[in-house]
Amino acid sequence: MSSRVAVISGANRGIGRATAKGLARAGFETVLLCRTLEKSEATVEALSAETRLERFLPAVAELTDPEAIDAAAREILDRFGQVHLLVNNAGIVNPEYRETSEGIEETLAVNHLGYVRLTSALLPGLLRGRGTRIVNVTSEAHAKTFDPSDFAGPKGWKRHRAYMQSKFLNLVFTFDLSRRLQGKRIAVNAVHPGLVATRLLEGFVAPNPFLAPVRVLTRLMGTSEAKGARTSLRVATDPILTGVTGEYFKKGERTSPPDESRDRAVQDRVRQWTAEVGGVDWSEGIEG
Ligand SMILES: NC(=O)c1ccc[n+]([C@@H]2O[C@H](COP(=O)([O-])OP(=O)(O)OC[C@H]3O[C@@H](n4cnc5c(N)ncnc54)[C@H](OP(=O)(O)O)[C@@H]3O)[C@@H](O)[C@H]2O)c1
Repeated sequence: MSSRVAVISGANRGIGRATAKGLARAGFETVLLCRTLEKSEATVEALSAETRLERFLPAVAELTDPEAIDAAAREILDRFGQVHLLVNNAGIVNPEYRETSEGIEETLAVNHLGYVRLTSALLPGLLRGRGTRIVNVTSEAHAKTFDPSDFAGPKGWKRHRAYMQSKFLNLVFTFDLSRRLQGKRIAVNAVHPGLVATRLLEGFVAPNPFLAPVRVLTRLMGTSEAKGARTSLRVATDPILTGVTGEYFKKGERTSPPDESRDRAVQDRVRQWTAEVGGVDWSEGIEG
């Protein structure tokens, strides 16, 4: 297989769908990792028709389920051997406190553990692809310090705090992994897509039936999904950025992350805590 392979999570709607379209246009065989086969196949069909390109492939993983992630990664690696680009994009804002079947707060499970688990499961293929890039979609609505109590349980839980903390963890993961992969020809960067009119924004509104009109109004905020995909696409594909790693991009350009996300002691704490909570250590499998 000579073509370059991209895997993108959360590809069936929102920024992920628009990004997937751009990746296929940039020449990638684009694997659409979605929560169900129905969603993935329907998106393959729709994007193939919209772009007139036969470069979309379906894949399935419910990102709160570590076994589903491993199974999807195995299938992708069996089929392609190499992965040249991974876009960790799928994300949630939960209107209410929810836990996964493992008892993990769901925002943490999808937004942080989902990125770490998918990256780790695909790592053998990412290490084999030359000039590989990993793009982690975060948000400028990130927290500025590490505070795992934001996920500690239903008491005192706040949807925006859980989201902000998960997006801070995306930055920490990006910078620590980038350093560990130095010399392995894998670039790892984070992006903020801007404020984009997607369903994600509805999650910030309390689940009160009287607030239904407010939920609809959130859709009027923000830019188009195509514009929201631009920074991810630039960081994923721009040849000028070859070799650029461990950076954070907004509006297509480098921007400054919070100091703590670059702090080595914080990175170690977050990595170890992630291994304890999620059973996955992103430093494993890199050496050799
Ligand atoms: N929209 C914004 O203004 C904004 C701003 C800053 C950052 N971001 C970031 O951009 C990324 C994409 O967000 P978006 O705005 O495009 O959101 P969106 O339209 O709500 O799309 C979210 C995607 O994630 C998938 N997903 C959610 N939970 C999942 C799970 N448990 N397993 C598998 N897939 C799951 C969804 O699949 P289903 O359709 O199956 O639910 C959907 O494809 C997120 O990381 C978000 O934090 C967005």
